[in-house]
Amino acid sequence: MKSVLLGCGTVGKGVLEIMDAHPEYGRIAKVLVRNLKKHGDDPRMTDDPEAVFGTENLELVIECMGGLEPAHTYVKRALEAGCHVVTSNKKMLAAYYEELQDLAEKNGCLIRYEACVGGGIPWIHELIRLQRIDEVTAFRGIINGTTNYILSGMTDNNTSFEEALSGAQEAGYAEADPTDDIDGYDARFKVALSAAAGFGVLPAAEEIPCYGIRHISAGDIVWAKEKGRTIKLIGSGKLYDDHVELSVLPVMLKNSSLLAGVASNLNGLSAVSTTLGTSFYIGQGAGRYPTAHAVVQDIIGIGEGERVTEHCYSMPVDNSALIGCWYVRTVHPEVFHDAAEIIDGETVVTREMPFHALQELLAQCNDPDLFLALIEA
Ligand code: NAP
Ligand code: HSE
Repeated sequence: MKSVLLGCGTVGKGVLEIMDAHPEYGRIAKVLVRNLKKHGDDPRMTDDPEAVFGTENLELVIECMGGLEPAHTYVKRALEAGCHVVTSNKKMLAAYYEELQDLAEKNGCLIRYEACVGGGIPWIHELIRLQRIDEVTAFRGIINGTTNYILSGMTDNNTSFEEALSGAQEAGYAEADPTDDIDGYDARFKVALSAAAGFGVLPAAEEIPCYGIRHISAGDIVWAKEKGRTIKLIGSGKLYDDHVELSVLPVMLKNSSLLAGVASNLNGLSAVSTTLGTSFYIGQGAGRYPTAHAVVQDIIGIGEGERVTEHCYSMPVDNSALIGCWYVRTVHPEVFHDAAEIIDGETVVTREMPFHALQELLAQCNDPDLFLALIEA
């Protein structure tokens, strides 16, 4: 298949290297970048999108640029021209999933996105494959490599948050703006895409409650350790008859749980489906080659004639069954006076309560530096 590549950064460069090493899967004819000076003397590099889209007999556009625009416009343009698309851009795809899947179907082509969720883990592929026999009813796991790298560094090596984040950026795990990682938005895009692939339900990402780890402190890690627990950022989804439960939350896992041992940039994800039951998947969730591997697997799949069409319907997001005891560190612990099991300085452990009741108390706290975690039952 004749293809072009949009973006040649952490992921794109890995895709280019793997594709050049495997010409049997097609040739990348042109590569679009922003700053030509950074990219050596490969004659395929250009900063002119018209040169890229003017490639003769173009069959496939590989998008590894990131961001909403111009990535969305370029992907639309590719699909309208009848070209298949492979993308690693979960932010863009979560925002325009329905439009782009419809456009692909109308133009007889495909948009595939394995690299968008779980890095190198064939997670999207597996969610779709499970449905050949089963209904997928739930998923849960560590779905962001950067935050897992930070939490592992803080837990295992007493690394500071800032130092661990710099390490994740140097290793190419973090987004160009790491806000999306540390505030949980990246995990939220991935939860939305997992719900689309696994449940056939497409939520607006903004409807998914999302708390990150920006304000976690060394004291929170110590508190968890003393209780035999490990803090992880967990994305999860459950399918009900008339709604979906979806969230991104820091969770204090029991050290004995499988996910507690998933460290560094690894992601660990489980799916629950009717006949297979619970299945668990682990692998590198971020980084050049694992992610590029997932992109190239999609390219090979399209080349081999794999045809996947996804149709999603809408269902409300309703987290009223999400109930638990919550760890909250805030400068306003008094707000929890009637709802707390323990108040120790700025640390609160609530009695068991629904997530929506917790949210009301959090709103009263009005504390921008608050950290919260669900304490796994
Ligand atoms: P990156 O290192 O920042 O690379 C982005 C590339 O896109 C660069 O080559 C950049 O050009 C090019 N680019 C950006 N805006 C452009 C524009 N307007 N016109 C032309 N070229 C443009 O990003 P990345 O880490 O590879 O991530 C790319 C995508 O993959 C993102 O959607 C990210 O969420 C996703 N992803 C990343 C990982 C990971 O581990 N890094 C894993 C899974 C998915 P210059 O080089 O000239 O600046
Ligand atoms: N920034 C993302 C992460 C890249 O750390 O998980 C992989 O999607």
